[in-house]
Amino acid sequence: MNERNQTLKLPFAASKKIVATALEKYIQESLSEPAEVLKQKTPEAIAEALKVKAIFEKGFENTEQLQAFITTYLENTNHLKNPRYMGHQVAVPQDLSGIPDWIHGTINNPSSLYEMGPAGATLEGFMINWMLDQLGWFKGSDLSDFSRLSENGSGILTHGGSIANMTALSAARAAIAPEAWEEGSPKDLVVMGPSTSHYSIVRALSIMGMGKKSFIPVPVDENEVILTHALEEVYAQIKKEGKRVMAVVANACATSTGLFDPLDEMASFCKKHQLWYHVDGAHGAVALLSKRHKNLVQGIEQADSVIWDAHKMLRVPALCTAVLFKNQKHMWNSFHQKGSYVFHENEVVGMDSMPFTVECTKSALGTKLFWSFALEGEEAMVKFIENSFQQARDLYEFLNTHQDFHCPYPPQSNILCFQYKPEELDDQQQLALRYELINSGEFYITSCVVQGKRYLRTVLMNPLSTLEDYRELSKAIEKHAEKYVTL
Ligand SMILES: Cc1ncc(COP(=O)(O)O)c(C=O)c1O
Repeated sequence: MNERNQTLKLPFAASKKIVATALEKYIQESLSEPAEVLKQKTPEAIAEALKVKAIFEKGFENTEQLQAFITTYLENTNHLKNPRYMGHQVAVPQDLSGIPDWIHGTINNPSSLYEMGPAGATLEGFMINWMLDQLGWFKGSDLSDFSRLSENGSGILTHGGSIANMTALSAARAAIAPEAWEEGSPKDLVVMGPSTSHYSIVRALSIMGMGKKSFIPVPVDENEVILTHALEEVYAQIKKEGKRVMAVVANACATSTGLFDPLDEMASFCKKHQLWYHVDGAHGAVALLSKRHKNLVQGIEQADSVIWDAHKMLRVPALCTAVLFKNQKHMWNSFHQKGSYVFHENEVVGMDSMPFTVECTKSALGTKLFWSFALEGEEAMVKFIENSFQQARDLYEFLNTHQDFHCPYPPQSNILCFQYKPEELDDQQQLALRYELINSGEFYITSCVVQGKRYLRTVLMNPLSTLEDYRELSKAIEKHAEKYVTL
């Protein structure tokens, strides 16, 4: 390091070694038994252990302090790398997935303006072309062709599915009511979708000034899959009330159950009535990559817009989501706004994604997504997806051999809901079981309500979870439930 860096108390080479060693130890410990997935302490205790105040005021004094801080920090984390992590739809990254975040943190090249981060913007362009190709919306012959053929779809990466949903809905509104950008939302616009649509849909509509009530829920079945036969009825009622449908939303898959709406039937409905079709594929769009599971998303290619979270099933550390449009013109129109300092009229080298995102500055998201593939290749990614779907199937089959466990449906993805002794344990007790389990550090699972009933919920994100872990999970649940079960 040259003289300019001499004021730093932490030398680069020694610090990087400390971080790498600590992370390596973290990975090894997460895999060795009996490792706790999560041991929650109070924020006060964590702040004290981290010596937050002193470090904040004076900065790290030396590398020993850095080492102590990192060790304590890692101790107080949720260990997603532990095979008994079966909780949220958050990727368990590959061991070297953090490298792009480190590079980005060092160079800070936001990729929304090409000239601010040409390499990152290029990788975003490449990955968008790849995703469009999966949908059949890329018509070129080379994914490195960034010329945007007019027959191609288009897309951008955003920080998360919630922003991506809002971006897609903004484009849908621009298509049906272009005047909305200047004059505000017309009052007669509504959006239809399964009553179990992710809350980010309603949230987006509220933020867009359309109000929560502009979401018209379509009934779902007992496992929260949309009842397609109800679409016509709901639509007729909307028309009767003199409203216009801005978009129809489908779940691929539903957040709670991991089950897919019948996308092709919904596509036919949208085609018949010429309605904007938006597929929320935050979790399940990855089924596109697997010959075995592609049928689950049949019809997705007929959508006008799709969102796809890479930080769920493509192993990318949070956050990274794609919002994709079949007709590229729809993306150009989503946000009619200009900032004179960024959106130049003249031709510039490369491509800027800034005009098409809610965000102004954004991280080098394309680099993170590209890296996920660069570490193991495309085939390994497909294997990972198929394995995780199989893991949920294995857990389902295992739990079905126990009469005390009730799984309401065979899983379609890697999400599985179940109850323990539903005739004896009420909703509160099912939930209490989840807290006992996570507080013990033995497992990390989640919980959700499906059609008014409380379930335990597992999302099999860790490729190392096996039958042995499912066996131990059932034993742990039985053990913690003992106090609730009447003899
Ligand atoms: C179906 C669906 N849509 C959207 C989202 C929101 O995505 P994000 O958490 O990336 O904002 C989620 C998150 O779980 C989801 O399951």
